[in-house]
Amino acid sequence: MITLKSPREIEKMAESGKVLAGVHLGLRNMIKPGLDTWDIEEFARKYIKDHNAYPSEMGFEGYKFATCVSVNDEVAHGIPRKGLILKDGDIVKVDLTVNKDGFESDSCWSYAVGDVSPEIKNLMDVTRKALYLGINQAVIGNRLGDIGGAIQTYVEDEHHMGDVRELIGHGIQPKMHEEPNVPAYGVPHRGLRLKEGMTITIEPMVNTGTWEIKDRYDKADDWTYYVSADGTPSAQYEHTLAITKDGPKILTIQDPDIDEKYIYHNN
Ligand code: MF3
Ligand code: CO
Ligand code: CO
Repeated sequence: MITLKSPREIEKMAESGKVLAGVHLGLRNMIKPGLDTWDIEEFARKYIKDHNAYPSEMGFEGYKFATCVSVNDEVAHGIPRKGLILKDGDIVKVDLTVNKDGFESDSCWSYAVGDVSPEIKNLMDVTRKALYLGINQAVIGNRLGDIGGAIQTYVEDEHHMGDVRELIGHGIQPKMHEEPNVPAYGVPHRGLRLKEGMTITIEPMVNTGTWEIKDRYDKADDWTYYVSADGTPSAQYEHTLAITKDGPKILTIQDPDIDEKYIYHNN
């Protein structure tokens, strides 16, 4: 069921999103060569607890951690692993959800570890811009296909990169995953019409190579995550947002300057 949220509920989701954004802001300064991915998990746990919230990925379908940490060819749902040390040139994605006072938020960000190759830098730029091109379509009266179509055209036709199909954005609140599905691919003017008060995530995953992914099973943690089928690096950016009369309202803003740079002005 799709539930439409009141301005008051959207405000509460933004409070949750602010805690989540605080984790990402902290990680910006922390992530460098030599960092143990477990330190990311510990930082997130403490930050969220200190802000009177809880990490809702923990316990979700058997997942044991506050963060998903996916390195290089790992596309999504990777695990923070003690002893997995980030090295110069890596790309690392950190995806987490926060619940504050019963309100969910969900946001993933990609980080360059030290100096990354021009290929990875470009991958990050394209994926981040793809997210905002999608967000710019998230206006009342548009359809879900407008969001996905804008992303797919940009990623595949303009940049010849792999636009992952198997994992998709979603409605959010009251649970982390709600209807509708929000694919980062699709056909403009098709699909569900967007209404005021819908809250969704947009979360493109882009590989430099093929869009296809495959499973990888982690025995130690009994968890399956995803890697690019051809081993090429992958990036992801995700925001939680609300459809409002004033346009898309990003609820997981880290830095208004960054969001402002892309939103409204750049399509
Ligand atoms: N945050 C992820 C999403 O964007 C969900 C992760 S579920 C987990 O939908 F169990 F892997 F944590
Ligand atoms: Co997420
Ligand atoms: Co999500």
